Amino acid sequence: MAPTQSFSDPFSLDTRLRDTGLFFREAFRTFRATGAVLPSGPVLANHLARFVAEREDPTAPLRIMEAGSGTGPVSRAIAAAMQPGDALDLVETNPEFATYLRGLLETDPALSRVAEQSTVHQAPVTDLGTDREYDVIVSGLPFANFTAEEVREIFDYYFTVLRPGGHLSFFGYLYTKEIKAIVASRHDYLRQAQSSWVVEEWVNRYGIESKRVLPNIPPAWIHHLRKPAKD
Ligand SMILES: C[S@@+](CC[C@H](N)C(=O)[O-])C[C@H]1O[C@@H](n2cnc3c(N)ncnc32)[C@H](O)[C@@H]1O
Repeated sequence: MAPTQSFSDPFSLDTRLRDTGLFFREAFRTFRATGAVLPSGPVLANHLARFVAEREDPTAPLRIMEAGSGTGPVSRAIAAAMQPGDALDLVETNPEFATYLRGLLETDPALSRVAEQSTVHQAPVTDLGTDREYDVIVSGLPFANFTAEEVREIFDYYFTVLRPGGHLSFFGYLYTKEIKAIVASRHDYLRQAQSSWVVEEWVNRYGIESKRVLPNIPPAWIHHLRKPAKD
């Protein structure tokens, strides 16, 4: 059950401790799906929300999807950059996180501002179907924990529902392959190597900017991709 929520400042120590407590518990219970032990920090979250903040046409409303919202740090950064008329789908498989996010939409100062424009979907992102279109997709999914086939299916899905000219931003953690080379089984190391090749393939095809985000625990890399516009 989600804890009772009351907030004053979305970036206060209390808020971050409460989010981190839930995140850590769920990471311990479901590490493969959660893929991290701490929620993303504000610097990484703001980088991920870049194409909501920097819109090509300031008058056109954006259709935004965030896949894998967890306890909502990136959702808050997206919400801060949203304008009237924008619509946000928050997609999360973990029912504890989905319930928590619904609570945040009612009570969290950053998210309640966009509650009327936002929907929480408790489902794997690929189950949302293809009868929808987005201008911006922000993905928090832990690709390093998935198989190459799962990663390919998710990128195929993102690029099906992304409009031509739309942006996909996603992140991963630095040095996971090097750490796995030391601590993981050979099977797990090879699985991650193969899934990272699929990520690289999409970045090589559609990447427009990649950068390291060191002020995050753990340090991360971030990629921004753009679906080619129609001729
Ligand atoms: C690394 S956490 C990121 C959480 C949050 N965005 C952040 O940056 O702190 C990954 C999140 O993706 C969710 N997730 C994993 N597989 C998913 C899927 N197929 N569809 C939607 N959410 C998924 C997990 O439950 C978890 O909340």
